[in-house]
Amino acid sequence: MSLCFLELKNFRSFQHVTINPSPRFNVIYGLNGSGKTTLLEAIYLLSLGRSFRSNSLSNVIKHGENSFQLFSRVEQNGGLVSPLGLEFTASKLSVRFSEERVNRRSDLANYLPSLLITPESKFLLSKGPSYRREFIDWGVFHVEPRFLSVWQRYSRSLKQRNAMLKRREFSELEDDVWVCELVEGATIINGMRNHYLSEMFPLLLCFLHKLLDSDPICMEYFPGWSDGEQNSYQESLVRNRARDIALGYTKDGVHRAELKFKIKGRLIQEFLSSGQLRLVVYSLYLAQLAYYQKHTSIRCTVLIDEFASELDTHHRDRLLSLLADLSAQVYITSTDRNDFSLDNVVEKKTFHVERGCVSEVL
Ligand SMILES: Nc1ncnc2c1ncn2[C@@H]1O[C@H](COP(=O)(O)OP(=O)(O)O)[C@@H](O)[C@H]1O
Ligand SMILES: [Mg+2]
Repeated sequence: MSLCFLELKNFRSFQHVTINPSPRFNVIYGLNGSGKTTLLEAIYLLSLGRSFRSNSLSNVIKHGENSFQLFSRVEQNGGLVSPLGLEFTASKLSVRFSEERVNRRSDLANYLPSLLITPESKFLLSKGPSYRREFIDWGVFHVEPRFLSVWQRYSRSLKQRNAMLKRREFSELEDDVWVCELVEGATIINGMRNHYLSEMFPLLLCFLHKLLDSDPICMEYFPGWSDGEQNSYQESLVRNRARDIALGYTKDGVHRAELKFKIKGRLIQEFLSSGQLRLVVYSLYLAQLAYYQKHTSIRCTVLIDEFASELDTHHRDRLLSLLADLSAQVYITSTDRNDFSLDNVVEKKTFHVERGCVSEVL
């Protein structure tokens, strides 16, 4: 899927703007504070029903107004164009796709799958494991239709077991039920994640090879229970019951999985420069995109904020040509349109953002 039309009303600094993006490459440039990230935020919101900058959508409404609207047209495979619109008013978000009301974020994510890469994306490697789990689960969610329901069931069981662990009287009989539910869910989720990683990793190596001149990078996946693969999750839960009762929550499980990348036995975040880490992050997203493309026929939307940041011209060019090889619809922001060259890219449009207006540069 790709956007062929986008309209913003009372969205942050924009009162009313419209654009007709290219199905492939879109460059958005303008001075600091002109509204480049806001445009990416609008597309992200259409694709996920939430912002990547504000927890509360009230902050997104243009100052002095009391609602915002986003409207787009999404081109599906085969050329069918469907309207996708969203309104936030009186603290309520309503979304419609093809005239139908959309009630679940997961449905939105399927209508307009998107990947966001910002300067903060390096947290994927440097911050806690939840960032890596989110990365893996994006990949799994978009190719395994069963993943979401299994994950939701696992999360519900986890919540209920944790509530029981907090209660004064512990029931081993009741716990056996939750252990059984957790094990069932964790086995499926762990299997899907393992499968995804084993297929994504060769693609990652390929992109790393093209982008990064370093010693070989190894990937280690930990399923989320301390004894790892040696003991089953069930054994781990039962053996650590007393610990979990003392803690008041379930320590082990797929909700604690971790992914590590190492060079010569050392974590890459302690080894590589900041710019090199950014290249690893790009390689991870490229691998994810390539995997996604291999398994679905749906076009993904890639939002890249401050593309040029921390990258030399040589790596910018390489990245652009790798992105051009994939079939995604790409949006790139930059303060200077001369920060990189799109001479070799055929389908592209450039937009200039200034004082609340967005204009296509021909
Ligand atoms: N709710 C809002 N209402 C009006 N203006 C806003 C709102 N939220 C942010 N802004 C303004 O929007 C401008 C554009 O921000 P941003 O998209 O981050 O710019 P850029 O990415 O081009 O540097 C900023 O100057 C900011 O003050
Ligand atoms: Mg910005």
